[in-house]
Amino acid sequence: MKEVKVTASKPYSVLIGAGIMKDFKALCGDIISGKKLAVITDDTVDGLYFEKLGLDGALKFVFPHGEESKNMNTLSDILEFLADNNFTRSDVLIALGGGVVGDITGFAAAVYMRGINYIQVPTTLLAMVDSSVGGKCAVDLHHGKNLAGSFHQPKRVICDTSALETLPDEMYKAGMAEVIKYGVLSGINLDSDIETLVFDCVSVKADIVRSDEFDNGTRQLLNLGHTPAHGIEALSSYTVPHGFAVAAGMGIIARASVKNGFCSKETADKVIGILEENGLPCDTEYNYEKIAEVAMRDKKAKGDKLTLVLIEKYGKCILHEINKKDFAEFISVK
Ligand code: NAD
Ligand code: GLY
Repeated sequence: MKEVKVTASKPYSVLIGAGIMKDFKALCGDIISGKKLAVITDDTVDGLYFEKLGLDGALKFVFPHGEESKNMNTLSDILEFLADNNFTRSDVLIALGGGVVGDITGFAAAVYMRGINYIQVPTTLLAMVDSSVGGKCAVDLHHGKNLAGSFHQPKRVICDTSALETLPDEMYKAGMAEVIKYGVLSGINLDSDIETLVFDCVSVKADIVRSDEFDNGTRQLLNLGHTPAHGIEALSSYTVPHGFAVAAGMGIIARASVKNGFCSKETADKVIGILEENGLPCDTEYNYEKIAEVAMRDKKAKGDKLTLVLIEKYGKCILHEINKKDFAEFISVK
């Protein structure tokens, strides 16, 4: 088993290993012992992994899988469920599932009685390498993704890499988009075994979160590809999975980085080649003007400015501010 220590406002460990979910009670005993527990999960993961946690007395809240559940209604239902069951500030939530479950559980934990503890048990690759670590939690509003949320760090993260065996191929690929993001940001070796790959990605994220927990500077590097991605997701009414949109967004940003003089064509070709090798898109059918229009409303936009993550070379990205009105032209190379 590998361990990454995240030293945010509240330090915690990310434990990574094959088959470790069955040891949940031992690995989290210091946090859960004597507490009331509620496992929050979706209707796919419930049948696959709830029993594996071995938490006989735990309560369970199950909601329909998918991004369409990541909303205020589900959040409200979870909060009412906790109140119905007399959860107190010293009790603990367990997020068992992908990024949707993790984000909504984290937000419920952030606001229930002004904040209770929670543990992340990510079951998708995307959630293991990205969403379960760093404390960002949110739900979507009608106006866009992740528009209501908070920063609330988990008490522990248990990444059981054997859960990836049941993950559909498309979802594995979607997670690889975030893995490739870490490659482009920091040059990690993408050919490692899965446990090392998750460890390396989480280590990069932990360093970034340590230096900028509340997303005022360097943490924005983690948004590589995300500005166009959020446009693509919204235009598809969230039928394009987050990871696929991020992959297309990285392709768009790679080409824009060449066009605007930030990196060589060889660098962009390398990034695009890696996306393609992993069966991921590197562009989108949506019109760039439309993507830009949606990006203007993105929460990453501040006033009339937008901070983009651009590629300088493989393993090094920078933040670059542009005027919102110039975004469509900036990325247009079609
Ligand atoms: P997801 O949570 O919707 O999971 C994808 C699908 O896989 C679901 O249908 C789920 O039921 C199923 N599934 C999960 N684990 C499985 C397993 N082991 N075997 C079989 N099926 C399984 O999607 P996701 O890609 O994990 O997460 C996407 C969400 O994460 C988005 O809402 C995105 O905004 C969010 N996100 C958050 C952060 C953050 O920092 N908080 C970072 C990146 C993404
Ligand atoms: N996934 C982006 C972040 O955690 O900041």
